[in-house]
Amino acid sequence: MRVEGRKFGDGTGGSVLDRPLLTLVIPTRNESENVPLLVRELRRGLADVDYRVIFVDDSTDDTPEVIRALSREDERVGIIHREGEERKGGLATAVTTGLDTVSEISVYTCVMDADLQHPPEKVREMLERAISSEADVVVASRYVKGGDYEGLSGPVRKAVSSGSKSLAQIVFREARKTSDPMSGFFLVKNSAISGIQFRPTGFKILLEVLVCAPELKVVEVPLRFQSRNAGVSKATLRQGLDYLSHIASLFWFVPSAGRFWKFALVGASGVLVNMATLFVLAEYVNADLIIAWMFAVGISILTNFLLNSAFTWRDVRHAGPIHFLLRGALAYPVAILGIGANFAVYYPLLRFVTEAFPYYLLFNFLGILAATSVNFILSSKLVFRP
Ligand code: GDD
Ligand code: MN
Repeated sequence: MRVEGRKFGDGTGGSVLDRPLLTLVIPTRNESENVPLLVRELRRGLADVDYRVIFVDDSTDDTPEVIRALSREDERVGIIHREGEERKGGLATAVTTGLDTVSEISVYTCVMDADLQHPPEKVREMLERAISSEADVVVASRYVKGGDYEGLSGPVRKAVSSGSKSLAQIVFREARKTSDPMSGFFLVKNSAISGIQFRPTGFKILLEVLVCAPELKVVEVPLRFQSRNAGVSKATLRQGLDYLSHIASLFWFVPSAGRFWKFALVGASGVLVNMATLFVLAEYVNADLIIAWMFAVGISILTNFLLNSAFTWRDVRHAGPIHFLLRGALAYPVAILGIGANFAVYYPLLRFVTEAFPYYLLFNFLGILAATSVNFILSSKLVFRP
């Protein structure tokens, strides 16, 4: 997509030797009142920094004209104005388009909102932090000491925000690297994300970045989330639903995402396989119940192994069929260790706690949790070692 602006002529910003340090990617939809103030504050905050600003604009008002006027007086300012089809995906594709376009231009990219909810003077601190800590990502977080999220209007919006944050952190290990994976204000080192294919479904771009590039080193700075300067928020119920489908699509389509839950899902399928095998052997084959039980366990460990290699660890390569068979064989002692862990939790609880608390089903559940965790850790470190 073409960037308008004098410093962006050939799309590369010139030779690597005069690459600017920083590009700001700022999505805009109808922000004509905020943009001039923002550009002025950035100019003040980043006085001695070589930077560029690209607005990725989907406005229906005079925002693009306002930005073009700013661009005439300040050559560091550019705009990608989108119309019609290009606009599909809204904020999400605005930011990913921006990231794709600028990754060649500068060393770092900072993504922020145009409505001054993200204080422009923070950018400098984020840049300094990235350089001094050698981090790949600096998140401006509303949830660390010194930050706050007062700028979120009303208790409902706040509850939705912290609920969706927790959901992401429960499902994705990578989202736990920051206290604010939903922040729209972050800075990335371009070399750390080059080659990563961001999917346009991603509405929360930071979450997308963290999950698609699981090795990133992340640090944070506190953010005092301001109230909107002018205009209205574009947050809607629709975006809440988009967020849920974003989580689901990250889970299904990014191989390394949410592995523990994939493993637990496969485990649950193993319970069904086990039950069904036992039932068929007992009812239709008239097998001895001990033999049938052993078969059921054996078969379910096998289907678990096959499903885990096809789904949970589908990005892990095997060095050939023999290697694959050996790994399958290894799944058996690992499963037995898991059952051992279950018993190690279940038995002492039953033995020493029951009098005060006779909840054997709860103890069994805790045992299953222990078994799943042991099995998961051994599976990732041994059976499906990359
Ligand atoms: N290009 C483009 N296209 N920009 C958009 C669109 C769109 O369809 N929708 C919104 N924007 C721009 C706005 O102009 C603004 O600069 C920025 O994206 C954020 O939009 P707001 O409407 O102000 O959203 P918000 O304040 O409710 O949400 C913000 O805070 C969240 C944290 O609570 C955003 O920064 C979210 O990304 C952030 O997670
Ligand atoms: Mn806003």
